[in-house]
Amino acid sequence: MLTNRIAVVTGASRGIGRQIALTLAREGAVVIVNYRGSKEKADEVVAEIERAGGKAEAVSCNVSDFKEAEAFLSDVIKKYGRIDILVNNAGITRDNLLMKMSEADFDAVIDTNLKGAFNCMKHVSRQMLKQKSGRIINISSVSGVMGNAGQANYCASKAGIIGLTKSAARELASRKITVNAIAPGFIQTDMTDALSDAVKEGIAAQIPMRQFGQTEDVAEAVAFLASDRANYITGQVICVDGGMAM
Ligand code: NAI
Repeated sequence: MLTNRIAVVTGASRGIGRQIALTLAREGAVVIVNYRGSKEKADEVVAEIERAGGKAEAVSCNVSDFKEAEAFLSDVIKKYGRIDILVNNAGITRDNLLMKMSEADFDAVIDTNLKGAFNCMKHVSRQMLKQKSGRIINISSVSGVMGNAGQANYCASKAGIIGLTKSAARELASRKITVNAIAPGFIQTDMTDALSDAVKEGIAAQIPMRQFGQTEDVAEAVAFLASDRANYITGQVICVDGGMAM
């Protein structure tokens, strides 16, 4: 259980982040539901948690902005006195072939997916070092492990997250702070629902388990890594992908 642990989940108003917030709250954590634009959806996630008897709060922050991330996390620390769990989930795609990819699309994806994770990790690490405890879980992707045509910016950001995870894990391990990454494969969300049936079938054929994952599959892995059951696991990349990247 994660009773009364303070958990920050970035990009938690929908999709995988929303489910991570619901699952951590179910385990007893007080969840800070971060969102960038959609206050209404973040408020719905908070309401859903409260209806189930949990505790949560929606807080706006663009994690790709260094100063904004600093202010966001220092406010959480002031209010709650600690941060036990940070889940860097916020992410975007701006897909295109390398030759056609604009500089703006490359920068936007790196700034959100990679720098956003760095910004939040930097600002929680001092507090976690003081606490001599903490859990950082970064959402990477199988695309960061395997590469993917048409996603050079996204794959670079997700591979970067793996390097960031392993380096931080080495720096923070002696203070009992673990840092791990989860690399989801194809997960059924709004993003993947938009694909045509033919494309979906083509993708499923490449997955040994022959089906897309559910947001719960990712959230359960996060809950495990956040718990005391994962005390001795750090610097790892756990693929939640139906066997796709093995
Ligand atoms: P989504 O697009 O539904 O959710 C992403 C969330 O991040 C949104 O709520 C968005 O508002 C938020 N966000 C974007 N930029 C932000 C910023 N600068 N500051 C704060 N929040 C921001 O995507 P989904 O599918 O739920 O993905 C969640 C994470 O999982 C992402 O990091 C994605 O790359 C990763 N992932 C998803 C897979 C999938 O199949 N859906 C597969 C592998 C990884």
